[in-house]
Amino acid sequence: MEKKNIDWSNLGFSYLKTDKRFVSNYKDGAWDKGALTGDDQVTINECAGVLQYAQTVFEGMKAYTTEDGRIVIFRPDLNASRMADSARRLEMPVYPEEKFVEAVEQVVRANAAWVPPYGSGATLYLRPYMFGTNAVIGVKPADEYQFRVFATPVGPYFKGGVKPLTIRVSDFDRAAPHGTGHIKAGLNYAMSLHAIVTAHAEGYDENMYLDAATHTKVEETGGANFLFVTKDGKVVTPKSDSILPSITRRSLMYVAKEYLGLEAEEREIAFDEVKDFAECGLCGTAAVISPVGRIVDHGQEICFPAGMETMGPVTQKLYDTLTGIQMGRIEAPKGWIHVVE
Ligand SMILES: Cc1ncc(COP(=O)(O)O)c(C=O)c1O
Repeated sequence: MEKKNIDWSNLGFSYLKTDKRFVSNYKDGAWDKGALTGDDQVTINECAGVLQYAQTVFEGMKAYTTEDGRIVIFRPDLNASRMADSARRLEMPVYPEEKFVEAVEQVVRANAAWVPPYGSGATLYLRPYMFGTNAVIGVKPADEYQFRVFATPVGPYFKGGVKPLTIRVSDFDRAAPHGTGHIKAGLNYAMSLHAIVTAHAEGYDENMYLDAATHTKVEETGGANFLFVTKDGKVVTPKSDSILPSITRRSLMYVAKEYLGLEAEEREIAFDEVKDFAECGLCGTAAVISPVGRIVDHGQEICFPAGMETMGPVTQKLYDTLTGIQMGRIEAPKGWIHVVE
């Protein structure tokens, strides 16, 4: 199969229309079989549930070309189950988990020419999502839904090397206690837009959100979970019911323990503790783990020892090991690498 003629190593993180996407519709209490289509347009009623009451959930995942030339997807079963959790929380019908994985595979196979080659630093980003399609004017769940998966090649997060980020502690809240912070619903991202636009305008890369109830505990950023490394080399990550259970973070915690022999603990983290940590990173599908160099809390700065030029040593080991597993250079735990035949 011939690859598309793209300058793979200069791709950014943006949408590019690929050849095929998967579409399935839910009506009268059942999902149809679904099919691939070349049509990238969605036509829905002006009063659709998604347009009026934001009834939409999504996932983000990646397909890679491994060192030996296979196309693989990283832990798609976890995205399938997280999307099922998201759907249940918003009173949407679950798209069956095994069918979710099959749909994602179909999209990757149909767009194999768009999967960036090994070593380019680029990957094929996959976006499964679903939304309420029929007219809903009273506040209630829709009766009809559409599930879709599209793919778009994206560039490396770290262009020209790893530059540690500067983040600010946000005055805005991301997620309420007992709200929807733990699911991947579009509404969580809509409400984070003002915070990220103002953070960028003030020169910060991201926001650190604290728990909405007390503003004393670390939660996450708008699009990634936190990992910290203590001065004695332990990996810690915030435990909270209102953060998204990042698949990358769960994988990195496993890598820390089982591959690197480190202690790794998920627990509540007070913001007051952050100044004592040796390293800080943001983890998610897009970035794997990106180092944070500096956190600014209303004029007070916390600077991590590795500085603003390089990743800290533990962050680097975590990054190298996880990307090694994803790219087939390091043996993966059972079930992590899903080969698309
Ligand atoms: C709010 C939020 N937290 C964390 C993550 C990281 O999750 P994952 O590692 O599953 O991509 C994401 C990105 O998907 C996110 O949007």
